[in-house]
Amino acid sequence: MNVLWVFAHPEPRSLGGALRDEGLATLRSLGHDVRESDLYAMGWNPVVEQVGTTPADVRAEQDKLAWADTVIVQFPLWWYGTPAILKGWFDRVFVKGYAYDVRGEDGRTLRYGEGVLAGKRALVVVTAGGREPSLGPRGVNGPLDELLFGLQHGTLFYAGMSVLPPVAVYGADRLSRDGFTEAAELLRKRLRTLSTTAPLPFRTQNGGDYDRDLVLRPELAPGRAGMAVHQCLTP
Ligand SMILES: Cc1cc2nc3c(=O)[nH]c(=O)nc-3n(C[C@H](O)[C@H](O)[C@H](O)COP(=O)(O)O)c2cc1C
Repeated sequence: MNVLWVFAHPEPRSLGGALRDEGLATLRSLGHDVRESDLYAMGWNPVVEQVGTTPADVRAEQDKLAWADTVIVQFPLWWYGTPAILKGWFDRVFVKGYAYDVRGEDGRTLRYGEGVLAGKRALVVVTAGGREPSLGPRGVNGPLDELLFGLQHGTLFYAGMSVLPPVAVYGADRLSRDGFTEAAELLRKRLRTLSTTAPLPFRTQNGGDYDRDLVLRPELAPGRAGMAVHQCLTP
């Protein structure tokens, strides 16, 4: 498989950096072809500018995406979201006519399960300072799956990708040696099953689950609201 690893951490000698090294080595040992976008090391410009044509650095990232079967997006959770440099990678690379505002031959807008990146898989690898319960359903930090909704559903799935359940390392600021061993093993395990892990069951926009206003039909997830209803978790 061709795997693109997008890495957003300023310090290679960090927990995130160590996990990235572990991940890349694992993928290579499995025989995958790997390319990396190490955003800080590349000096990635995250700021959208008004230009008529697609800048060369953006085109290069789109070419890497076209090459990849699977895209891994790794970052430390910062203020409930991605570091700005990674947000700016999406802002500049996932542009109009490429990742959004794309129409199929029948005139339908291709998004949420369809689009330029359809057929590719995505995996988010995130480290978080909060301990697991505090990022759970009633945790003070908010449920991690909801914090990742904009990235996993609103960006990766929006552009067509199948999004695998994330790899999350909690309590990342106080990880013991055993904790790191466990985290690295979790990552290796998930990388070994990249092609077989079932994706998150996000509902496709054009699959019949939504009405003309793109509102989930009332007979689906009846009486429920919020981000979770956009996954088809019950038969
Ligand atoms: C600016 C900043 C914001 C952070 N925001 C959060 C947050 O919203 N939730 C959380 O659980 N941890 C948060 N953290 C903790 C980081 O997620 C944690 O330090 C990092 O994942 C540890 O990995 P590292 O050693 O590779 O940086 C934040 C850290 C920084 C520096």
